[in-house]
Amino acid sequence: MTLSAFARKYIPALQRLRDSVVSATGASAQALSELEAIHRKLEHIESEITTLKQKDNSVHLDTPEDLDKETSGLIRAALQTAAVQHLPLLPYEIDVTDGVITVQTWAAAPLGLTENMRFFVNGKPFDQVEYPIRDEELSAKFADIRGCSFVAKLLTSLPDPEAKWIRLDAAPTGIYNECAWRKAIHILNPMHERYPFPPEANKLRVIGDAHETRFKMGGATIFKNMERYLQEALALSWSDFPSILDWGCGSARVSRYLIAESGQAVTGADIDPDNVAWCKANIAGGRFETIPLMPRTQFKDGQFDLAIGVSVFTHLKEDVQFAWLEEMRRVIKPGGYALFSITGPTQFAYNRFPAHLYEKVQHDGFMDLSADPALNSVLDDKEYYRSVMHSRDYICDRWTEYFDVIAIEDGIAALQDFVVLRRRH
Ligand SMILES: C[S@@+](CC[C@H](N)C(=O)[O-])C[C@H]1O[C@@H](n2cnc3c(N)ncnc32)[C@H](O)[C@@H]1O
Repeated sequence: MTLSAFARKYIPALQRLRDSVVSATGASAQALSELEAIHRKLEHIESEITTLKQKDNSVHLDTPEDLDKETSGLIRAALQTAAVQHLPLLPYEIDVTDGVITVQTWAAAPLGLTENMRFFVNGKPFDQVEYPIRDEELSAKFADIRGCSFVAKLLTSLPDPEAKWIRLDAAPTGIYNECAWRKAIHILNPMHERYPFPPEANKLRVIGDAHETRFKMGGATIFKNMERYLQEALALSWSDFPSILDWGCGSARVSRYLIAESGQAVTGADIDPDNVAWCKANIAGGRFETIPLMPRTQFKDGQFDLAIGVSVFTHLKEDVQFAWLEEMRRVIKPGGYALFSITGPTQFAYNRFPAHLYEKVQHDGFMDLSADPALNSVLDDKEYYRSVMHSRDYICDRWTEYFDVIAIEDGIAALQDFVVLRRRH
């Protein structure tokens, strides 16, 4: 309890006690002078509190409004921590040419500690580093988060120019930690890319911008994070999933790596016929199918060992969501797994959604914010595709009706969290 809260609670009671002792007992001169001394002390405390209140409103903390302010402050702090913890590095340009990699990246240092920051490619420090470079746009966007206003420009030769995967790390302590994979960014070495990248409009519909670096690193990082998570948390590898469904595959941002790298049978399914057509024409080795807006799909009961759905449940109305959870349960084998992403603290922080929205989502559990026009050019129903958010409690309570909820993993589905589900036997 704060000093002001203590005083406000007990001072009136003590004053009443003093008055009643004096009037009821006709107290002795010594007792009276002791009570007077207490009274003077109380008056002194009260006047100090008044001065403090005038200086700083935050001393006065226990009215409902102040508690709200304090809670929002805590939530904001948690969101800020999420931004720095899960996104120390977010490149906006990556180029690999003749064995040399150049990167331009957001680089966030926790608590503003930029001095020890070092950058690594596949565990090797970059040779040329310009950091911290203050970025005005970031300064404006993240004015309240120390250490988030900087970018870095990096250049080095690749440790192994033929290596398939390129992993980028920012280490605020200066020490590379291979185990900190959740914070790392991946791309496939361009010399190993098997497929073309989609046209602008097809990228735009799935990630909200047409930027190729963002498309590449998002897909590769999600693929590598899933691989590592399955291995580390569940002791499973791709070979445990002979049949994989990428539900809501879009323009194969993730499927392209699942198909090329997992060695398993991968089916991509989407309600967007134009993206499915592009995938069919360009991503050999996978099977791509258009599916209806509402179940039931053409897939057989228990056809898949694993289903992934990156940013699909973030777009469905609540009753539509339940219909698709039911359908996913039908098409996944008993004992099979699902990884479906939702908006969590990392995306909240990065997108600078206000703390009160986060609180409201926690309170309501499910929030349908609005229609999302991204698919207007390919869907007749302009109200189907939404922007929705879930709280973790909601997922644990409501999705449990369909699957065992094994975990919700922060920030490993690009900016989103993965809900890890297992179909009951
Ligand atoms: C934000 S995009 C993400 C695409 C892809 N998963 C990725 O990560 O690049 C969401 C995708 O889900 C698709 N989608 C929306 N509702 C769907 C549904 N009920 N079944 C299958 N796909 C759906 C959209 O057409 C869109 O391609």
